Amino acid sequence: MKKSSIDIAVLAFIMFFAMMPAGCKPDAGKGIAATDSYYGEQYRPQFHFSPEANWMNDPNGMVYYAGEYHLFYQYYPDSNVWGPMHWGHAVSTDLVRWQHLPVALYPDSLGYIFSGSAVVDKNNTSGLGTIDSPAMIAIYTYHNPVLEKSGSNTFQSQGFAYSTDKGRTWAKYAGNPVLKSPEIKDFRDPKVIWHHATGKWIMILAVQDRVHFYSSPNLINWTFESEFGKETGAHGGVWECPDLFPLKVDGNVLKWVMLVSINPGGPNSGSATQYFVGEFDGHSFASETDGNRWVDWGRDNYAGVTWSNIPESDGRRLFLGWMSNWQYATVVPTQVWRSAMTIPRELVLKKDNHDYLLFSFPVKELEMLRSDNPVFMTSKSISGETTINPDGIDLNQCEMILEFNTGNTAVDSFGILLANDQGEKLIISCSGKSEQIIIDRSSAGSSLFSREFSGSAKAPYQVANKVRFRLLIDAASVELFVDSGKLVMTNLVFPAKKYGNLQLFSAGGDILLEKAEFYNLKGIW
Ligand code: FRU
Repeated sequence: MKKSSIDIAVLAFIMFFAMMPAGCKPDAGKGIAATDSYYGEQYRPQFHFSPEANWMNDPNGMVYYAGEYHLFYQYYPDSNVWGPMHWGHAVSTDLVRWQHLPVALYPDSLGYIFSGSAVVDKNNTSGLGTIDSPAMIAIYTYHNPVLEKSGSNTFQSQGFAYSTDKGRTWAKYAGNPVLKSPEIKDFRDPKVIWHHATGKWIMILAVQDRVHFYSSPNLINWTFESEFGKETGAHGGVWECPDLFPLKVDGNVLKWVMLVSINPGGPNSGSATQYFVGEFDGHSFASETDGNRWVDWGRDNYAGVTWSNIPESDGRRLFLGWMSNWQYATVVPTQVWRSAMTIPRELVLKKDNHDYLLFSFPVKELEMLRSDNPVFMTSKSISGETTINPDGIDLNQCEMILEFNTGNTAVDSFGILLANDQGEKLIISCSGKSEQIIIDRSSAGSSLFSREFSGSAKAPYQVANKVRFRLLIDAASVELFVDSGKLVMTNLVFPAKKYGNLQLFSAGGDILLEKAEFYNLKGIW
């Protein structure tokens, strides 16, 4: 495994079981520095989900049930670096404000609890709930560090836990593991869906640098169906955290979308999430995607998957990612907690010539955080560098919508610069010449904690007459949604002082800022 503290973690795992009296569980949330107010530390996101304290990585088991969006996540409650994995837990009724709940799943004698998914077993196929009160079932990977250390290849297997009280308490299935590794080391991160046409559960599992499909009538007995990916997509690293779901193209033809995270091997180095669009018949997946496609071209959106059991009356496909990158996640300059999630996003599929493209944009619920002092602007000519003063807007906790008209002139580049009085600046530029959007954080703030953090993220982009940027800025993260979500870039930044200065620039020709909207976004904690 890539995680550095593995030996200490193995020791901790053994000690944990040797010393923990039955029923005694570590407290989540301990260790908040006495000097900081609740969620008031430097770099603490104000409208993104982050754990109260300690280490978090992938979102897990996202499922909607009885009016609540559940968010579980990879969590190590005893340290601010990766260690023996638990599932932390939070719920929300609106995808915006989150309530922390006690840790849901603890490691046991079979191993740490790695990433996975959750479903509501509405037809009671498992027999663990009832039709009237169905069980919520969390399917995850057991990672056994002792077996791993012994040189075995079978240290990852799949197990599940169930809850009959809306996810508040959990029991592990007595017959775990339900799917053992066929002597393959990287065998993890099950996403389980109900496949209507075949009337079976389907599990998509990351296996080395490809995925395997299994099917089951009851979530307990699993049968191998097929493999996908050997010759397709990006292969610069191991595949992790897959997802599979149907989506209608422009609200019409149904296609299947597969998300697969890859680490390393992302388009801007390190971790990233690719996608494929095609057909799935309950047995195998056939991709119709040429080349490599990325859910997000930024450096900091990994292991993202979508919510299960969103009601048909809602019909959206809702996504959340881990806002970090394994290249430096354990050393970013926060102490009390480490990592936040992206803003929840809606995914839609659109046809672009012969291609199916995945668009994403913030869920509409986020608008409830807009405060009632927005700033609107119209028709501003941008020539060279132009300072913009959106009165009363906190540039470190806001949403900006900027609509440019390039007048079809091939300007060399134009964009946005956020700066502070320490000389730190984040530059987002759109280059007609190189047909790219570039987010340059090399001087945006602290980066000494890792040699891999600094630099630019680049994404291919053809500049048209109209270009729309929607930005969400929250303490230490900048999420950029271009046009209607065709291109997304999520990046962390750690400025020594808050950004207080906003400039727009245009080089090699003037452009017009046709329309701009600025909103302060209220904190959720
Ligand atoms: C992805 C990942 C998963 C694994 C988990 C362990 O970030 O490596 O493959 O289940 O993290 O925390």
